[in-house]
This record gives sequence, structure tokens and C-alpha cells, in this order.
Amino acid sequence: MTTRRTRWQEAGGSGNYGKRFAELVSAGEDVDGEARLADTLLPRGARVLDAGAGMGRVTAALLRRGHDVVAIEPDEALVRQARETYPGLPIQERDILDLGPDDGPFDLVVCVGNVMVYLAEGTERAALRAMSAVLGENGRILIGFHLRDRPPHAHAYTAAGFEADLTAAGLRVDLRAGTYQLHPANEAYGVWVLSRARSGAGGRGPAAMSGGATVVAEPTTFVEEASAAPAGPSRLGPRAAR
Ligand SMILES: C[S@@+](CC[C@H](N)C(=O)[O-])C[C@H]1O[C@@H](n2cnc3c(N)ncnc32)[C@H](O)[C@@H]1O
Repeated sequence: MTTRRTRWQEAGGSGNYGKRFAELVSAGEDVDGEARLADTLLPRGARVLDAGAGMGRVTAALLRRGHDVVAIEPDEALVRQARETYPGLPIQERDILDLGPDDGPFDLVVCVGNVMVYLAEGTERAALRAMSAVLGENGRILIGFHLRDRPPHAHAYTAAGFEADLTAAGLRVDLRAGTYQLHPANEAYGVWVLSRARSGAGGRGPAAMSGGATVVAEPTTFVEEASAAPAGPSRLGPRAAR
């Protein structure tokens, strides 16, 4: 188990983040923007890993849409909040860096809401590799974080820096947008759909996107920030109950 403190922990952990989202949920506010995009990327009944799940809102929204979701979150207070807000939510107190290939395969890894900028310093490539390792054959990763006006203590990740790291981790950019509603790419917020780079597959990297779907705008959830691959045995447990 990893012992490196995340930037989130360095920042003092969840503060009132989990409670704030729990209040929004109980007030019936829309906190599902990221999950709606994730759902469009998936066949029905897909296997999804919510990496850095926070208080579980994305996991809960994807479960409601019929997917088989596992959430991991290292912040104990947020895991508690998730269990209180969504009783029975399949969430484990775990770090992305502790994932192993046996945890997959997943059709999609969702890593949204600034998780990438709250990782422990210098672990970005390792985290990207760990998420890549649990993907099924046609699996993808959905990532989103602030490029500007980032929250306190968050890593100042540029789009170019992130794309250099994902390339080094053996991933490629299938799509870049600026919001979870796929507004064009911009300097404020980055949303990426990634998959494993394949030799001979055309090498679609960021440069290859210029005539296509490079879309970069504001996140839908600005509160804090906010194939069917074969299913195999998983250390994350059996398929989650829906
Ligand atoms: C702003 S919260 C977002 C939570 C959730 N994804 C959401 O959108 O509601 C950032 C999260 O990143 C998590 N995080 C940071 N480093 C992590 C790591 N190495 N593994 C898993 N989660 C991590 C934090 O614990 C925190 O829950």
C-alpha cells in the first residue's frame, strides 16, 4: 500500500468538500455532468472504475445508469461521506497507485474532478500507467481537471505537461475538450478521453487532433471544481450490485 501523501492530503483533505456535495445531492442539484459524458462513452452494463471517487457522486450516477462500477478513494473522510450519502455504494479506501493489472479489466476509468492535480507530487505518470494497466482491450480513461483558476494546493498542470506525461505512460489522446459537454478545448479546463497507444494504429496524438475532435470550456460542475471488455476476476471484488 502506498504511503505517499497526496496533494489532497497536504491541502488538509476534504475539509467540507464531501459535505458540500452531499448537501447539493440532498437538495436535488445536478452533480452528474461528468457521469453523463462517461455514460455516452460506454456500452450498456459496462465495467467502470471511478478512480479518486471523492464522496461517490459519479459512481452513484453511473450505477443509476446500469453500469457495474467500483470506486476507490484514499481519503477516509470522503469514503465515510460516500457511504453515508449513498448506502451500499461499492467504494474502497484505496489509492490509484495501488492498482494492479489484476484489478481490471475495465471499459472505462473515470478520473474526474481534479484528481490528477491532487495526486502526490511526481506520481502523475505512475498514476496514468496504473490506470492504463487496468483497461480492457478497448478500454478508455476519462480525465478532467482545471488548467486555470485551479483550487488551492493543486498542481499547476498545463495541457502540454499532461499530454507529455500521458504519452510517456503509453497512452494517446482520443479526444480533448473543454467541458464535460464537449465544448471546444480552452485554457481554463481540460477534459480528455485517452486510450492505450497502439503501434500502427495511426498514432493519434494531440497534433493529429487538429482537424478533428479537439474540443477544450467551463466544467459543468464548478462547485469544487464539478466494447464490452471481458469481465474477469478482480481484486476490487465481484461485479457490483446495481
Ligand atoms: C476534488 S476531489 C474529486 C473527487 C471526485 N472525483 C469528484 O469529482 O467528486 C479530488 C480527489 O482526488 C483524490 N486523490 C488524490 N490523489 C489520489 C490517488 N493517488 N488515488 C486516488 N485518489 C486520489 C482525493 O483523495 C480527492 O478525493
